[in-house]
Amino acid sequence: MAMQAVGMSWADFRAVCGNASLLGEGFKFGNGVLAMVIRKSTESKVLHEILDMNFLNAEQSASDPKATRILVVLMCKHEFDARYQKPEDKLYIAQLYFPLIGQVFSQAQGTRFGFYARTCPNVETIVRSTVQSHFQSDPTVAPALLRMHFHDCFVQGCDASILINGPNTEKSAFPNRLLRGFDVIDDAKNKLEAACAGVVSCADILTLAARDSVALTKGVGWPVPLGRRDGTVSLASDTDNLPAFTDSIQVQVQKFADKGLNAQDLVTLVGGHTIGTASCQFFINRLYNFSTTTATGADPTIDPAFLPQLRALCPQNGDGSRRVALDTGSQNTFDDSYFKNLKNGRGILESDQKLWTDPATRTIAQRYTGTIRGLFGLRFGVEFARSMVKMSNIGVKTGSQGEIRRVCTAVN
Ligand code: HEM
Repeated sequence: MAMQAVGMSWADFRAVCGNASLLGEGFKFGNGVLAMVIRKSTESKVLHEILDMNFLNAEQSASDPKATRILVVLMCKHEFDARYQKPEDKLYIAQLYFPLIGQVFSQAQGTRFGFYARTCPNVETIVRSTVQSHFQSDPTVAPALLRMHFHDCFVQGCDASILINGPNTEKSAFPNRLLRGFDVIDDAKNKLEAACAGVVSCADILTLAARDSVALTKGVGWPVPLGRRDGTVSLASDTDNLPAFTDSIQVQVQKFADKGLNAQDLVTLVGGHTIGTASCQFFINRLYNFSTTTATGADPTIDPAFLPQLRALCPQNGDGSRRVALDTGSQNTFDDSYFKNLKNGRGILESDQKLWTDPATRTIAQRYTGTIRGLFGLRFGVEFARSMVKMSNIGVKTGSQGEIRRVCTAVN
């Protein structure tokens, strides 16, 4: 019986692989490392199959990051074995996980895993339990935090500039006026200051909270490289480059490209609309006076059977602040149904539906609309994680740049 140690924290492992209880008893956690006991010939076979891909020399130490990646894949495979029984499903999962894991381990720009290992080892647990306790009393904090992170990263990079209070700050600008969940970040920051004062940035807290929000809504988690510093500049005028719900696909693609994100990232990240709600004011224009080509005056890309439902939710001259699910029928679960809704003309925002009507992005959205036993749902989850790691590293400040704020709402 061989024993293989894996230099990875339990929290990171769970973030990659999700529910650890599916692992079975072949794994042990102790002395700070996760170890795998190779008991069965099938496990050994899988390991060798992976090694045969020339990704890793069998003699390399398990403390080598590459070896770690391999073994994480292997362990994730155990989890997926429990969920997916067909060999082709398993192969597909392995293909998805290789680039994801490769990316998260090697391409984080300036941020890294284990950044707080010595200075604040419980950072992830503290953030997770804080988000979880708020989520339990108000599940709408999950979409709120995810959106807040996106709005932070697109303006001045992921540096918590969105959290700063005051006139003419980003927070006060029109596109950010409905953001919520600031109290969750403040709560986590207070707890972290009590545990390890002056160490953890608000930018890292928000990044972790966004990941935890996806996991809490049953999405695929991912390990978050850390070490962001907080920015000292927050200007309302900088928010102009945030995408608007009326933007054409060309403009959306350009705005994402300006941040180093491609069309695949755009479609995948907007899939974040699989959770949460939008207020009527952001799409009521589509329901009544949008077009002269339709008898109803509605946007012709809306499914005619869906239009009466939307009109009932958002009556003409009604309350523009009333909120409607962005992913009809599944607003609390992080799954791929958002893309199926787009396919069926049931997108809520104009910018959402255009992802399907414009051929430039439809081919990407189509990849997430398959129906084979939830497999494409998983694909979306994994691709979302990959694009989030990219987004969470936009313009990060590290090293001696920026500062570690004492409170998240003000510069020091
Ligand atoms: C073209 C890009 C995007 C546009 C135009 C857009 C626009 C919007 C609008 C208008 C709302 C409704 C806000 C409200 O009524 O409170 C919204 C909500 C939301 N957005 Fe986006 N968004 C975009 C991309 C993204 C991305 C990249 C993410 C995350 C990675 C995201 C996550 C969310 C979430 C989770 C909500 C629900 C918020 C809640 O329930 O409080 N969005 N978005």
